[in-house]
Amino acid sequence: PYPPRVFSGIQPTGSIHLGNYLGAISQWIKLQDQNEDLILSIVDLHSITLPHDPKKLSRNILELTATLLGCGLDPSKVILFQQSMVSAHTELCWCLGCISTMARLAHLPQYKEKSANLKNIPLGLFVYPVLQAADILLYKATHVPVGEDQLQHIQLCQELAKIFNNRFGQTFPMPHTLKISNEYSRIKSLRDPLKKMSKSDPDEKSRICLTDTPDTIVRNIKKAVTDFTSEVTFDPENRPGVSNLISIHSFATGKTVEQICKEAEHLDTGRYKFVAADAIVAYIKPIQESIAQYLDDKGYLLSVLAEGGEKASEIAEVTLKEVHNKLGL
Ligand code: ADP
Ligand code: NA
Repeated sequence: PYPPRVFSGIQPTGSIHLGNYLGAISQWIKLQDQNEDLILSIVDLHSITLPHDPKKLSRNILELTATLLGCGLDPSKVILFQQSMVSAHTELCWCLGCISTMARLAHLPQYKEKSANLKNIPLGLFVYPVLQAADILLYKATHVPVGEDQLQHIQLCQELAKIFNNRFGQTFPMPHTLKISNEYSRIKSLRDPLKKMSKSDPDEKSRICLTDTPDTIVRNIKKAVTDFTSEVTFDPENRPGVSNLISIHSFATGKTVEQICKEAEHLDTGRYKFVAADAIVAYIKPIQESIAQYLDDKGYLLSVLAEGGEKASEIAEVTLKEVHNKLGL
């Protein structure tokens, strides 16, 4: 009996790249256009789980807001807010933390990956998936669009909802994953097509950012790692590098993968990269111009976040009160 509601979050850890755009933002725009009840959070509390630069973080929050608006998100249709402005997130995180186990959290692949090279592991990094569960459950979200990398975290969220409901009475709906069509759910790094394109990759040449200049985009695509076969064929399994470019190219032009390969029949991968780069630059250009306009109006960006924060708080506070009651607090 829970009305459908979609929740999603994005970290303000750096410039938005095409992986974020294809795998997440463009999906959100689609949901917005279908008039879904959509709540989007700029999850800044998640971004302090690893060492960070405060000045950069606050700049990134505004940049991300401008980027989301520039991509077409409409704050009158979608609740767009900054996580740290709604204190109920950390409060629910504590409550859920008390029903989570250390063993369960230690098993999560993303935690293992991120902590592998750290001598001192921050507690926040360990608790991160519990905060993510709180983000979702606070709004009684029924659907969560996720990339492949986040599936295990949604499973944890489902488990915590179940445990809470069983112990303290029905409170949370079971959040379902809204799987993103496979092709775009894992856009690859340009430098290592076995890894996903990521904001947190220290190598800036590994990604195509919405705010990159055309020259940078062309240069990075030109240097993208492919393989020793010169034909342009789509085979994500055996040829992840060139297939990744074809996927992005296909999204940017609306052409099918087959069409693109057919048109590139007479090209080798080196020359094909220029064709793909031109198409990608052309696709990004109007988005870039729109982002730049929003970035010029800091006052407006702040007002969007303030209003979104108020709307989110209104919903979140009701859930938090219910949780406190159930826990006897
Ligand atoms: P990043 O890994 O770049 O820091 P986030 O973890 O902030 O990105 O993820 C933001 C959204 O973008 C999530 O919905 C995530 O699944 C999606 N996403 C991130 N990287 C990719 C990628 N390479 N391909 C497709 N979607 C991605
Ligand atoms: Na990430």
